[in-house]
Amino acid sequence: MSSPLELLEKSSRKIRHVLRAQDFKRETLMELFGLADALEREPMEIMRGRTLCWYGGEASSRTAVSHIMAAQDLGGTYLARAITESSEGGKGESLADTIMTLSVIDPEGIIVLRHPDEDAIYRAALVSKVPIINAGSGGEQHPTQALLDGFTIFKTIRRLDNFSIAFVGDLKYARTTNSLAYLLTKFRGIKMYLVSRDALRMKGDLRYYLELHRERMDLEVVETADLDWVIDQVDFVYQTRAQKERAEDLGEHASNPPYVIDRAMATRMKPGARIMHPLPRREELAREIDDMPQQLYIDQMRFGRIIRRALLAKICFDNPVSR
Ligand code: NCD
Repeated sequence: MSSPLELLEKSSRKIRHVLRAQDFKRETLMELFGLADALEREPMEIMRGRTLCWYGGEASSRTAVSHIMAAQDLGGTYLARAITESSEGGKGESLADTIMTLSVIDPEGIIVLRHPDEDAIYRAALVSKVPIINAGSGGEQHPTQALLDGFTIFKTIRRLDNFSIAFVGDLKYARTTNSLAYLLTKFRGIKMYLVSRDALRMKGDLRYYLELHRERMDLEVVETADLDWVIDQVDFVYQTRAQKERAEDLGEHASNPPYVIDRAMATRMKPGARIMHPLPRREELAREIDDMPQQLYIDQMRFGRIIRRALLAKICFDNPVSR
């Protein structure tokens, strides 16, 4: 079995910024999955002397903590700043200047940015002199969540081709389902059910992107509002929270109650089928499922730290510092 360093040396494609899920190549994803396993067997202090800077413009538990823990696993340190504490939050400094500042003061760092403005991550990447990772860009993307979701599916069924998944709930504003849908277009033979109320359907640009991959990747997409019909057909149910904080018009959520997955629903799933959720949850995912074999969302959190460790190791290797 190869060591983490051997795997990093073998990889030809480099990663600098992580902005959108569709930018990952299939080969890179498979390499990261292998690297994640290798780092579990054999730790590596490739981040020693480097700092991860969490720059948070929205609340975060799992994403912030797992990036920070992953950096520490690799011997790195961290700095966590909320936008409210920064000059961007308090003095009206532009995000570009804030990012420029961070990357000039710490030219060996890695910035992880979560921002409510969908465009901010791209503006940040334009000025950043250090690698920058998108940890959630408004209602648009969350590429490292897609990475951990893909890794979770891979760890569960040992493949990312030929399986079925239902994305459920608020597909209009959930960035996690957006990013995972983009990521899954790299794989073949996937059947994707998009289960939502009419007002919360997946946005047209992503729906069209999926359409472009239909024939070439043997991708089947079914849009429906009927979770009852889908629940016993799929290998994975990916439930989402109503993203009320993002809704342009709150009526969309008030008049479209969430689908609830409870014990009765979970029991109807195919044998071996699993329930995913990026968390946090509200009423759409009943706690009574936590102890059922269909639960996969708790494992997702664990895999998040493991795959982010691989991602950070790769970014450190691909963007060495000159000392
Ligand atoms: C999600 C997010 O922030 O988009 N959570 C996460 O990162 N695990 C999902 C959500 O907030 O509903």
